[in-house]
Amino acid sequence: MSVIEVPVSGVAEKGQERGGRVTVTKLKAMKERGEKIAMLTAYDYSTARLADEAGIPVLLVGDSLAQVVLGYDSTVRVTMDEMLHHVKAVSRGAQHALVIGDMPFLSYNTNPDEALRNAGRFLQEGGARAVKLEGASVAPTVERMVAAGIPVMGHLGLTPQSINVFGGHKIQGKTREAAARILRDALALQEAGCFALVLETVPTPLASLITERLSIPTIGIGAGAGCDGQVQVLHDLLGWYADFTPRHARKYVDMGTLLNAAFQEYMADVKAGRFPTEENAFPMDEALLREL
Ligand code: KIV
Repeated sequence: MSVIEVPVSGVAEKGQERGGRVTVTKLKAMKERGEKIAMLTAYDYSTARLADEAGIPVLLVGDSLAQVVLGYDSTVRVTMDEMLHHVKAVSRGAQHALVIGDMPFLSYNTNPDEALRNAGRFLQEGGARAVKLEGASVAPTVERMVAAGIPVMGHLGLTPQSINVFGGHKIQGKTREAAARILRDALALQEAGCFALVLETVPTPLASLITERLSIPTIGIGAGAGCDGQVQVLHDLLGWYADFTPRHARKYVDMGTLLNAAFQEYMADVKAGRFPTEENAFPMDEALLREL
């Protein structure tokens, strides 16, 4: 069975037969069948393994890593080497999912040769199978990467690496000009060879229109249900980062509260001598102990 024919959805149950690796062609086929794509960010081996086992077809090592894992105040701060470190870990954990490495700020939009080299590192050293770039000015770079054998996902709308230009987390594409520009950019990125496009924080009708116009899948975050798929930041889904849940997200579990309770219980057990017990420790021959 070829990778393209392998079933991806409906394999969420543990132990159920899983197909081979999800590919970029597979994602296009999902769009054509009207099958929604659930993409999630991942930053480490263990979570990647769990998400992969659950059947999540696409794992993005997002530069949101900067904030939710490394504690920086924006994605602008994270470096190529820091990203690569986590791309390697996620790639080791994902047996089936398509792993995408998010190219960090200024790693792809200054020097085209350096952009190609950096993208190549994500595949060659990191084990990713595709990269993601923000904005439309990089269309010529996308062409070069695709020609060199590197699949590229585009990203338009509220692109976080340009947050200082936007002046904050503001919805994009609200005016006629801005909406027309995003539509034009989406078509240009498709033309340049992107295999899919993230649309972030744009009005639902605009994202739906772009989804209809493109033959490649659109993956929305704060872009409504009309997109071909959705992407969420892992920590928003798990309630693991901040005290608030962004409007575009849904908290499926309150890990913050669960972890806090577990940490407190552990601390109380240590203080009270309830942990460890004999179950958690290792015995020794009593005669040998007496000798000592
Ligand atoms: O870095 C990230 O997590 C992202 C997604 C939100 C699309 O770019």
